[in-house]
Amino acid sequence: MTDRYILAIESSCDETSVAVLKNETDLLSNIIASQVESHKRFGGVVPEVASRHHVEVITLCIKEALTESGIEASDLTAVAVTYGPGLVGALLVGMAAAKAFAWANRLPLIPVNHMAGHLMAARDVQELEYPLLALLVSGGHTELVYVSESGHYQIVGETRDDAVGEAYDKVGRVMGLTYPAGREIDELAHKGQDIYDFPRAMIKEDNLDFSFSGLKSAFINLHHNASQKGEQLATQDLCASFQAAVLDVLMTKTKKALRDYPVKTLVVAGGVAANQGLRERLVTEIQDINVVIPPLRLCGDNAGMIALAAAIEYDKRNFADLSLNAKPSLAFDSLN
Ligand code: KG4
Ligand code: ZN
Repeated sequence: MTDRYILAIESSCDETSVAVLKNETDLLSNIIASQVESHKRFGGVVPEVASRHHVEVITLCIKEALTESGIEASDLTAVAVTYGPGLVGALLVGMAAAKAFAWANRLPLIPVNHMAGHLMAARDVQELEYPLLALLVSGGHTELVYVSESGHYQIVGETRDDAVGEAYDKVGRVMGLTYPAGREIDELAHKGQDIYDFPRAMIKEDNLDFSFSGLKSAFINLHHNASQKGEQLATQDLCASFQAAVLDVLMTKTKKALRDYPVKTLVVAGGVAANQGLRERLVTEIQDINVVIPPLRLCGDNAGMIALAAAIEYDKRNFADLSLNAKPSLAFDSLN
């Protein structure tokens, strides 16, 4: 059998990324140009700034991904691209590049759902066995997904308001930390004590949904009241208490989902899957189930994960034509 090479493009938020995948799981290159420095001073992603940066670097990223992989455009089998969910202007840049590249090189175009990409990053660790359950935690999403077979995604629980990464970034901002604050809060949490009693919303409810806006408000109120009184709260303890509340909810709901949907494999993916506290609790609290977490380099947004998802879509010949449009609110249901 001849080798198959997929070039994948990701530009849904603030990372421009291009990867080359050989066959099923051999990532030959995964170039990531982060724009985070440009967004830091605004405390979040500014969509217009994001689109402009994508335009500036997308061709360079394609070139670099090909060079690093040692593959020529003429060796490629297909081009894959994230078409949603994400920022529409950002998505459109990657899609325009992918379409032009596919057309010029007469290659099929594979549309990939960004969240399926996060999930399929777990293929880098091992080939996935179905059915499986996934906890997807990122800056824009928090969801529990039941995957009965490859490509069949069913959301069984999700956040009713803020995503967990978004809550990390917002409380980080209140504490004066730089965006995105998840990693720093995680590090500080390990040095502090869980002494503040933050709410664990919906933890006792008989469903698999989440809510983080109450926790965020409780955190902001505590911080605000203390600074009005001129009191100084220990940042490390605030982080430890916030993280304990988040992880209690994520773990409780994930364990409930595993009872409701008995599976042998749990995938935990998305930017927040980089969280060391979450990783530790998954190891200690979930037994008898194979917990698969992508390596850190594939947790945040990157095109390698899009390529790993695209390989499955290629086998099913899920190709799009050049009329493919960006879907900023793309949900799992519309993928199939
Ligand atoms: O998946 P991702 O790179 O982008 C989206 O698709 O949203 O996730 C980014 C999010 C940010 O909110 C960031 O603060 C969070 O992931 N994050 C973390 C950690 N590393 C990144 N949150 C908690 N702990 C971490 N170690
Ligand atoms: Zn993402």
